[in-house]
Amino acid sequence: MVRARLALGLLSLLGSALAQESSSYVDPRNGITFQGLTDPTYGVTYGAVFPPLVSSGAQSTEFIGEIVAPLAAKWIGLALGGAMLDNLLLVAWPNGNSIVYSTRYATDYVQPVAYPGPVITNLPSTSVNATHWNWVFRCQNCTSWSGGSLDTTSGAAWAWAYGNTTVDTPSNNASTFAEHSDFGFWGEIMSAGHASAADYANYLAGTSTSSTTTVSSTTTTTTTSSTTSTGPTSTPTAYDYVIVGAGPGGIITADRLSQAGKKVLLLERGGPSTAQTGGTYKAPWAANTSLTKFDVPGLFETMFTDSNEFWWCSDITVFAGCLVGGGTSVNGALYWLPTDADFSGANGWPSAWQNHAPYTSALSARLPSTDAPSTDGKRYLEQTFNVVQSLLTPQGYRQVTINSDVNSKDHVYGYSAYDFINGKRGGPVATYLQTALQRSNFVLKQYVMVSNVVRNGSQITGVKTNDTSLGPNGVVPLTTNGRVILSAGSFGTARILFQSGIGPSDQLAIVQSNTAAAANLPPSSQFINLPVGESVSDNPSINLVFTHPSVDAYNNWATVWASPPTADAAQYINNQSGVLASASPRMNFWRAYAGSDGITRYMQGTVRPGAASVNTTNSYNASTIFTITAYLSYGITSRGRIGITPSLNAQPIVNPWFQDPIDKVVLTQGLQDIISSVSSVANLTLITPDNHMTLAQYINAYDPATMNSNHWVGSAKIGANSSVAVVDSNAKVFNTNNLFVADASLIPALPVGNPHGMLMSAMEQAAAKILALAGGP
Ligand SMILES: Cc1cc2nc3c(=O)[nH]c(=O)nc-3n(C[C@H](O)[C@H](O)[C@H](O)COP(=O)(O)OP(=O)(O)OC[C@H]3O[C@@H](n4cnc5c(N)ncnc54)[C@H](O)[C@@H]3O)c2cc1C
Ligand SMILES: *[C@@H]1O[C@H](CO)[C@@H](O)[C@H](O)[C@H]1NC(C)=O
Ligand SMILES: *[C@@H]1O[C@H](CO)[C@@H](O)[C@H](O)[C@H]1NC(C)=O
Ligand SMILES: *[C@@H]1O[C@H](CO)[C@@H](O)[C@H](O)[C@H]1NC(C)=O
Ligand SMILES: *[C@@H]1O[C@H](CO)[C@@H](O)[C@H](O)[C@H]1NC(C)=O
Ligand SMILES: *[C@@H]1O[C@H](CO)[C@@H](O)[C@H](O)[C@H]1NC(C)=O
Ligand SMILES: *[C@@H]1O[C@H](CO)[C@@H](O)[C@H](O)[C@H]1NC(C)=O
Ligand SMILES: *[C@@H]1O[C@H](CO)[C@@H](O)[C@H](O)[C@H]1NC(C)=O
Ligand SMILES: *[C@@H]1O[C@H](CO)[C@@H](O)[C@H](O)[C@H]1NC(C)=O
Ligand SMILES: *[C@@H]1O[C@H](CO)[C@@H](O)[C@H](O)[C@H]1NC(C)=O
Ligand SMILES: *[C@@H]1O[C@H](CO)[C@@H](O)[C@H](O)[C@H]1NC(C)=O
Ligand SMILES: *[C@@H]1O[C@H](CO)[C@@H](O)[C@H](O)[C@H]1NC(C)=O
Ligand SMILES: *[C@@H]1O[C@H](CO)[C@@H](O)[C@H](O)[C@H]1NC(C)=O
Repeated sequence: MVRARLALGLLSLLGSALAQESSSYVDPRNGITFQGLTDPTYGVTYGAVFPPLVSSGAQSTEFIGEIVAPLAAKWIGLALGGAMLDNLLLVAWPNGNSIVYSTRYATDYVQPVAYPGPVITNLPSTSVNATHWNWVFRCQNCTSWSGGSLDTTSGAAWAWAYGNTTVDTPSNNASTFAEHSDFGFWGEIMSAGHASAADYANYLAGTSTSSTTTVSSTTTTTTTSSTTSTGPTSTPTAYDYVIVGAGPGGIITADRLSQAGKKVLLLERGGPSTAQTGGTYKAPWAANTSLTKFDVPGLFETMFTDSNEFWWCSDITVFAGCLVGGGTSVNGALYWLPTDADFSGANGWPSAWQNHAPYTSALSARLPSTDAPSTDGKRYLEQTFNVVQSLLTPQGYRQVTINSDVNSKDHVYGYSAYDFINGKRGGPVATYLQTALQRSNFVLKQYVMVSNVVRNGSQITGVKTNDTSLGPNGVVPLTTNGRVILSAGSFGTARILFQSGIGPSDQLAIVQSNTAAAANLPPSSQFINLPVGESVSDNPSINLVFTHPSVDAYNNWATVWASPPTADAAQYINNQSGVLASASPRMNFWRAYAGSDGITRYMQGTVRPGAASVNTTNSYNASTIFTITAYLSYGITSRGRIGITPSLNAQPIVNPWFQDPIDKVVLTQGLQDIISSVSSVANLTLITPDNHMTLAQYINAYDPATMNSNHWVGSAKIGANSSVAVVDSNAKVFNTNNLFVADASLIPALPVGNPHGMLMSAMEQAAAKILALAGGP
């Protein structure tokens, strides 16, 4: 399926940012000292050893590699650049007593094609025995490929892909095969993997004799949960509230609970984002400023096109931010104060949550919105607003100030509103987190990964982390009556619940089958069966691409990282004003539709210069392209499901888009309406879909993975009882005493547009409900 390919294709991570790193081991069968890793889930070993480094001239372009796999592994792939797209892929499988191998390459999320150039030679210890297949090979001309290379003097992310179904034609190295059933990343420390010239020559000749010598280090790598260290000798600090995840949910609840005097620990698996949090990752033109990638709104589009995407979670197959601020440090920051309908009973909220006004007021007081984010108050690059205004006016739309006229969401448009502050990314990190950090009863810990909560039946006694400085075996203790709040995002929270023995039996069985994770589970008699992950939604979204001669596509945002227009960079550096003070969207609009099932659904449109992809054979002027993304939002009836793979990667296991055909009919109608007045706007041309394709053909062919809007909600939703929901109306997990959820997971259904404004209001409310609930610290 496309989604997992998408993840492997989009991630490219530095070795240093990865939890798993290679170590040195000797394969006793061939005596070769490899730098590599044994994946604990499948027991597959991946290793590489390089010729010696030279102090002058070019480095060698070859290495010796091995894959040692149990026969259950039907095929294995190795992505040398750590990603599926535009990387050298080595694929191998057993065929009888021999190993068949192939070099492949992919430029899209489809079957990789043969890639000529590398020269592979099997070495003598290649073999198949009763339990394993062992591929040991020399790979020449293997350190660079079209669009990428290995720097063997350092470390880099490598990726493995595991196939659990036999390839279509095992005897043929050009065989097709089904998509990998699992994947993972590790940091390959190539700098530590260079042999002497003599050893390397012996390895090639198969005459290494070290098979009887002592193995100097083991093949096991650290995992997040298998540590047996006893931690510090001093008594670990206990907390009233341990909150997992510093996204908007975790930050807002941490601020409100610490404001109320509670002793709060906020744990975040990632590191700094904006300069205010200690972040330092900057565009070259901003190198001598304090303006990081996460500060500059105009760099939003580069979140998806960078070669060093350390901010995405490497173990979730869709985009999820893993750094301080979570999604709000990498998102488009489109910020809508919630409508009354967003919190209605019809949208799944318990009656106690429907009066959202006080919480929304508290939110907007802390975090105001702006639809003119440049510090000079001017609007820049507004041509798309004017063109689409001309397109929508004949359809009966009127202009509003979006966050002033909040409940008007039918036939309205306005300037895009953001939670940027002073021309920079603001959000909860610049506001709530800063007030929390000033309190002595608040502690933020970064680079701490939580695997599960520790519990005795319904009582949570601690939080299991990978940081043994926080407590014995990494377990953070709670004070008397202490509580835990999961704010790890729609995928992260669901995974922690599964790893804590809370969720549907099929997902808990996957945890039980993972040796490291199973060791942290409570006895199965204490498993809590709740519909975790079973009712998720995300907006289906479809792009229309146009050209208009008045539009400046701003080089399709392709140059903003390396070389934006000089004057724009100077203006932004000096004054945080100009084009770069805003993310790409310039206008948003909404319209209501009655479905044939009697349910009213809303469509949101987002207008921006540039386009992610254009598909037309007609010629067009790329300098004038722009996109309208149409999202189906409030009222959507389709639901999907979130689950985990055997190596604990989190992913959608049922896609949430267009499960109900009425959702598709309604969005199709919305798209049809948008384009109905194209001919009334002089020189406006729809280029995707173009005049060779109908709208229906275009929608039917639309790649589901690109329908993803990154607006996942509902994986631990709030509701009436444990048959239909995961948390009760106090945000407490059913059948537990002291475990809560405060993030997008608890939102029962999507609001009328991009969710983080509504989410943050809900988080103000969650904090208030948790504080008010008796029995706490
Ligand atoms: C690319 C993109 C663009 C978006 N654009 C918009 C937009 O323009 N407007 C809008 O309203 N919404 C947008 N969103 C959605 C919005 O950002 C999310 O709805 C919101 O961030 C969800 O907040 P959360 O607190 O539930 O989780 P997250 O923001 O996902 O935060 C979860 C945090 O928990 C941490 N974490 C996870 N697991 C663990 C663990 N095991 N241990 C420790 N820490 C952990 C993560 O590192 C992360 O920091 C966008 C999202 C994405 C990904
Ligand atoms: C199959 O192997 C041969 C050499 O043995 C090689 O030339 C060819 O490119 C390979 N094909 C694929 C698809 O890997
Ligand atoms: C090395 O591989 C590349 C493809 O990555 C190919 O273009 C080149 O011709 C190869 N070089 C040699 C010497 O075979
Ligand atoms: C088969 O190969 C595996 C992996 O190299 C090895 O651990 C195992 O001992 C081998 N089995 C036999 C019977 O040689
Ligand atoms: C392969 O793995 C997938 C995903 O984990 C699973 O659904 C499927 O049943 C597995 N197939 C086989 C043949 O084991
Ligand atoms: C940053 O400062 C260094 C040292 O003064 C200088 O060499 C470099 O050109 C500056 N970079 C930019 C983008 O101004
Ligand atoms: C814990 O996990 C985080 C996130 O993967 C990582 O950055 C950190 O280095 C890990 N800590 C330890 C002690 O392994
Ligand atoms: C678990 O809780 C029960 C009471 O519910 C108690 O009797 C038991 O001692 C506890 N077990 C541990 C290991 O704390
Ligand atoms: C910054 O703003 C000031 C005051 O408005 C203006 O004089 C100056 O030209 C601006 N600098 C740039 C580089 O735009
Ligand atoms: C582009 O459109 C054609 C039909 O005109 C379709 O066959 C093709 O798959 C599309 N390509 C992409 C990348 O969507
Ligand atoms: C494309 O549009 C740009 C910007 O309007 C214009 O300068 C250029 O002349 C156009 N190119 C063509 C080939 O029409
Ligand atoms: C449309 O394009 C024509 C030339 O192709 C030009 O004369 C006319 O001014 C344009 N109209 C608008 C509204 O841009
Ligand atoms: C749970 O709540 C749902 C929805 O309100 C309701 O239909 C169902 O009857 C309830 N189940 C139980 C066991 O109370």
